[in-house]
Amino acid sequence: MKETNATDNIKVGIDKINFYTPNHYLDLVDLAEARGVDPNKFLIGIGQSKMSVAALDQDIVAMAANAAEPMLTDNERQEIGLLVVATESGIDQSKAAALFVQDLLRLSANLRAIEIKEACYGATAGIQLACDYVRSHPGRKALVIASDIARYGLATPGEVTQGAGSVAMLVTRNPEILAIEPESFYESRSTGDFWRPNYSTVAFARGKFSEEVYVGMFEELWDKAQELGSANPESLQALLLHIPFSKMGRKGLRTLGNGKIDEADYMRLTERFEQSIVYGKEVGNIYTGSIYLALLSLLENDESLKPGDRIGLYSYGSGSVAELYFGTLQPGYTQRLDAQTHRAMLDGRERLSMSEYEAMFSAELVRDGSEQDLGRSDHAANAPHYLAGMKAHERQYR
Ligand code: CAA
Repeated sequence: MKETNATDNIKVGIDKINFYTPNHYLDLVDLAEARGVDPNKFLIGIGQSKMSVAALDQDIVAMAANAAEPMLTDNERQEIGLLVVATESGIDQSKAAALFVQDLLRLSANLRAIEIKEACYGATAGIQLACDYVRSHPGRKALVIASDIARYGLATPGEVTQGAGSVAMLVTRNPEILAIEPESFYESRSTGDFWRPNYSTVAFARGKFSEEVYVGMFEELWDKAQELGSANPESLQALLLHIPFSKMGRKGLRTLGNGKIDEADYMRLTERFEQSIVYGKEVGNIYTGSIYLALLSLLENDESLKPGDRIGLYSYGSGSVAELYFGTLQPGYTQRLDAQTHRAMLDGRERLSMSEYEAMFSAELVRDGSEQDLGRSDHAANAPHYLAGMKAHERQYR
């Protein structure tokens, strides 16, 4: 739980939010048929319908810059004093992805640019750090970008839970979208539920165990928050959960059923949960950005929420770190949203055949220092940034 201090009464939180996902997807019915699985296992059992697939030129840096580019004004580019890129799909063992992103976004040099990694929890660490930063630095803003490509490998149990995308959030004082409460509930414990060794381009998971840890940590944090009066269900209009696939979030939420909380409260949270998974079901797992894609999905697809409504967020990162925190919707938050553009981006993606998907998944960057020119996979106006190729072991961005 967070200690309280004198700056806690300054309102801080998410002022702007945007997302980008690559312009190719695989329909999960095609995947099911190719893998000899009943499509309903993926559509209902896992609860996903499509997954975005990233070509080599849309790596986590390009996607991060594409997510943030349209939402920043020239003034904001100067005011940002902290840039966090959260990812578990890092492109360099040493240099922070944030430095490439700073350059692509033409941000001021007067900032701290760092990368945070803790599986799917990284962006929440970034958001909390950003809130502390803007509380203690009047006049400065923080940009937090969650960017990931979820890869488990062809014909693995996790294959259906892959995806790719980035969510960018501007964190400020007096935010226009979500004011974040200073008190939050968190826990860390070393577990072997999901990991990716340095030598591997795909993750390893003990799938069922990872589900148990996710749910167990949620129950513990919920109970702790409730004991201390923060998770009062009547005061909560929605509860967002990390969504590696929509069934996972549903399993977490279900622990509040069976009389644990009042039936009317449970129904309300369940109905709102449906709006929070609209985008994720079509994008797939974007690891650390998933819960923030769920936030955007809720705000852009639910018409009954209003300013002053309180929302809970349960963030889970394998390995494992979990945090439950709360925020309040701000007056005029709907003016910060752009459902039409996001829907057009999802609907405008090109459907891949199985062989195109497998080829795109298996494509690799050169590793021997030779030059490689990549084609450009996304010519849309919302994808100005891309990886052009490799030269002398360095990524070349445009
Ligand atoms: N119709 C409807 N439902 C069906 C069905 C059918 N024809 N066939 C099967 N199902 C259901 C099953 O009953 C099961 O439902 P429940 O989970 O409610 O029991 C569901 O479909 C999944 O089927 P399986 O139990 O056979 O699961 P699986 O062996 O195929 O693996 C998985 C599923 C474990 C999630 C696997 O995809 C995986 O390992 N994923 C990666 C790990 C992961 O995402 N873990 C989540 C927690 S960790 C985390 O959140 C961090 C992160 O982002 C990675």
